Amino acid sequence: MKYMTKPTVVLTYPINQKSIDKNLKPFANVIIADSKTKLDKALPKADGLITLLADKITAELISKAPKLRVIGNYAVGVDNIDLKSCKKRNIAVVNTPRVLTRATAELAVSLLFAAARRITEGDRMCRAGKFKGWKPELLQGIRLEGRHSLIVGTGRIGNETGKLFKALGMSVDYVRSNDSKHVIKNKLKKAQILSLHLPLTPETHHWLNKSRIKLLPHDAIVINTARGPVVDEDALIDALKNKKIFAAAFDVYEREPSIPISLRKLQNVVLSPHLGSATVETRKEMADAVTTGVMAVLSGKKPWNLLNH
Ligand code: DGY
Repeated sequence: MKYMTKPTVVLTYPINQKSIDKNLKPFANVIIADSKTKLDKALPKADGLITLLADKITAELISKAPKLRVIGNYAVGVDNIDLKSCKKRNIAVVNTPRVLTRATAELAVSLLFAAARRITEGDRMCRAGKFKGWKPELLQGIRLEGRHSLIVGTGRIGNETGKLFKALGMSVDYVRSNDSKHVIKNKLKKAQILSLHLPLTPETHHWLNKSRIKLLPHDAIVINTARGPVVDEDALIDALKNKKIFAAAFDVYEREPSIPISLRKLQNVVLSPHLGSATVETRKEMADAVTTGVMAVLSGKKPWNLLNH
């Protein structure tokens, strides 16, 4: 790649030094702007911007970067970016699809096992010195084989999770967020395992709401590795508190990173800190995907992970 003058790529976080050294530094001036002050100073120079999912890329922020041509979001979800403003300004957006599909599906399965077999509850018991010896009734969980699961969302991660669920001997059904009310209702009534794999959009906000939670069987387990606001968190907490369902596992939260005390107090939940893509392999591939994607746009090429052009 050759440029007349090197473009400037601003990163809100030093995502991965090797990817930065290999894919950005030979071709661009790189600025790590990991504070608001640094970012405000760097944005006027930015041709490319690399962001994390917690960075809110608003119209106001975009207006501070008049030269901006591409945003690389170090995530597959882009609900943190004002895509309409990007379109207006003709700013390309690249993200990290495919490379995190398997990792996220594996986390959904891990959370399911943990919730079904009450592993974190047992872990807390052991750490607290409360394990007083084997007993037939101690922490009885749920056998997954033969259970009926419902995957919400038919994208890559939903499909991969479905494949893994099938391999565990469960029957697997799928539902789209915008299927008819009647279809959704009937499928939820049978969903002993419900795994959410929806992007967060205005249409999917609180997709799993109070009335839909009420439809779930009493032994249901809900897994959310998508985005917190896809679930009405308070309604799900209520259902868990009142033992209307068996358990839930949360990797994402409605007001992330804040987790309500009422949720933290519950025994029948498994909580993880947004770990869907958190494997060494995947995080490296995500860093390569955004850095090469951003540089491709800046050198006039179409990257494989271009989202909006
Ligand atoms: C994503 O990429 O959207 C994930 O939530 C990050 O783990």
